[in-house]
Amino acid sequence: MMSFISFLALHGAFYLLWLWPHTPFELAVKPEIISLAQQKAGLTRDGPPVHSATSVRDYWTNEYNWTEVQNDINTRFKMYTTTVNALPNSNYNASVPLHFVHHRSNRTDAIPLLFVHGWPGSFLEVANLLEPLTNPPNSSIPAFHVVAPSIPGFGFSPAPLFPLFGPRAAGEAFNNLMHQLNYTSYVVQGGDIGGFITRFMASSHPESVVSMLNNFWLIQPNATDFGRYFAGNTTADENYVIEEFWNFENKSSGYRFEQQTQPLQIGHAMTDSPVGFAMYIYDFMFLTVDDYWWGAGELITWTLMYWIQGPYAGFRFYKEMVNDYVVEDGLLINSTTFPYVSQPVAISEFPADIWYRTPLDWAQRGGNVVARTVHEFGGHFAAVETPDLLIEDIRSFFGSSTLSNTSIFSC
Ligand SMILES: *[C@@H]1O[C@H](CO)[C@@H](O)[C@H](O)[C@H]1NC(C)=O
Ligand SMILES: *[C@@H]1O[C@H](CO)[C@@H](O)[C@H](O)[C@H]1NC(C)=O
Ligand SMILES: *[C@@H]1O[C@H](CO)[C@@H](O)[C@H](O)[C@H]1NC(C)=O
Ligand SMILES: *[C@@H]1O[C@H](CO)[C@@H](O)[C@H](O)[C@H]1NC(C)=O
Ligand SMILES: *[C@@H]1O[C@H](CO)[C@@H](O)[C@H](O)[C@H]1NC(C)=O
Ligand SMILES: *[C@@H]1O[C@H](CO)[C@@H](O)[C@H](O)[C@H]1NC(C)=O
Ligand SMILES: *[C@@H]1O[C@H](CO)[C@@H](O)[C@H](O)[C@H]1NC(C)=O
Ligand SMILES: *[C@@H]1O[C@H](CO)[C@@H](O)[C@H](O)[C@H]1NC(C)=O
Ligand SMILES: *[C@@H]1O[C@H](CO)[C@@H](O)[C@H](O)[C@H]1NC(C)=O
Ligand SMILES: *[C@@H]1O[C@H](CO)[C@@H](O)[C@H](O)[C@H]1NC(C)=O
Repeated sequence: MMSFISFLALHGAFYLLWLWPHTPFELAVKPEIISLAQQKAGLTRDGPPVHSATSVRDYWTNEYNWTEVQNDINTRFKMYTTTVNALPNSNYNASVPLHFVHHRSNRTDAIPLLFVHGWPGSFLEVANLLEPLTNPPNSSIPAFHVVAPSIPGFGFSPAPLFPLFGPRAAGEAFNNLMHQLNYTSYVVQGGDIGGFITRFMASSHPESVVSMLNNFWLIQPNATDFGRYFAGNTTADENYVIEEFWNFENKSSGYRFEQQTQPLQIGHAMTDSPVGFAMYIYDFMFLTVDDYWWGAGELITWTLMYWIQGPYAGFRFYKEMVNDYVVEDGLLINSTTFPYVSQPVAISEFPADIWYRTPLDWAQRGGNVVARTVHEFGGHFAAVETPDLLIEDIRSFFGSSTLSNTSIFSC
């Protein structure tokens, strides 16, 4: 607790202290932080591509109104703070203050569902799922209690104060959060980094995680697969996965190598330039959607979800993914160490994502994959771009107790 208070004194971005247990939380970001961002944004000079950076600068200077955004967030999300630890299955030995969204359904048969966002997103990604999942149109459609924490260092969960906070530690912290909320059994949903964190959680906590839906189920092809590929003896889906991901690795993965090797190198610059950071994340975002346009206002809000406390921790998480052996050179997953999920898993894949058409037999190397939905529209940010498709997948998988083992919730 002491160390966290000094974090607050140091950064000064938040008003609230983290008090156990689950203190209701409303955003009240210090106006100085917001006006500093706006001033710095106004100083942005032309750079490539001139048009987008300057239009973000101009919108930020002339039109963006944080007070309205903050009021809207405080209205749409029921938010809380608490403190948990990241034990026993990680090496992160310090307390973990968390900010989280928690919407309870009033249905007595509701299934507790943990939603974990990714990079460069935030808890805001869950927005469109809250009402349909907690309050479905009728009792033949499953209902959920939705919990959506901010990964520490993202949004309003303070950055870890020590090294070793990667997906393994985040999974421990989130499992402890669910237990603190008295959800001793629950299901999980995640993509991007959230897809990794939930795999660690499920593997470490078979007693708590009943089943999972994952919209970023990466599987490392092995040497035999590559041998077959080069011999021209792979299927169309296998070829698609290998070539699509190579294409992404070769042309669009600079951000990832930077973040996983030298996060501080970009940390300083991005902390100094809010528009620079907005353009940096947008460079990833626009490549991975099918047909979604973040207007300048929404892009600025996504940017602030990092910039308010400083974007370094979000970069740093990638370095911690290496420490947890998630990533390796070439393809992302270290197939030797990545945890196997024995609970039922459903995967949902979207064509504009950087990972698509995983053959079912490959997918099953990473876990007990019992359902695979390959969509024809959508991308990396499914909860944002195609919430209806994701909601449909969530309902149909967790609504089927035969597939997802959720009969334990139906009392
Ligand atoms: C921003 O929005 C708030 C709340 O709607 C309003 O009171 C305020 O006048 C707006 N600020 C500007 C500069 O328009
Ligand atoms: C953290 O490690 C120290 C030293 O090994 C130990 O005394 C302390 O109990 C540990 N804290 C937790 C929360 O495990
Ligand atoms: C559940 O809550 C919704 C609003 O969130 C309300 O419309 C509905 O009537 C409530 N159902 C019951 C059974 O209380
Ligand atoms: C429940 O709602 C869904 C979606 O609106 C609809 O398709 C279904 O027919 C409804 N079922 C009942 C029993 O009303
Ligand atoms: C969880 O259950 C305990 C024991 O029944 C209770 O004291 C606590 O208030 C509950 N917590 C929540 C968040 O409901
Ligand atoms: C690759 O995976 C397949 C299917 O699990 C397996 O048959 C093969 O032996 C593996 N190859 C290597 C080199 O591990
Ligand atoms: C291609 O794969 C099939 C079945 O997996 C196998 O029988 C055949 O020998 C392979 N051919 C080559 C050229 O590797
Ligand atoms: C991309 O990278 C892979 C592996 O690093 C390599 O084998 C491939 O030839 C590269 N080029 C293209 C166009 O995919
Ligand atoms: C994958 O994990 C194994 C086992 O911990 C480790 O020896 C190996 O170095 C890892 N590979 C990479 C590329 O990090
Ligand atoms: C289903 O849940 C029960 C406990 O409710 C558990 O014993 C069983 O192992 C689970 N099955 C799978 C496939 O996870």
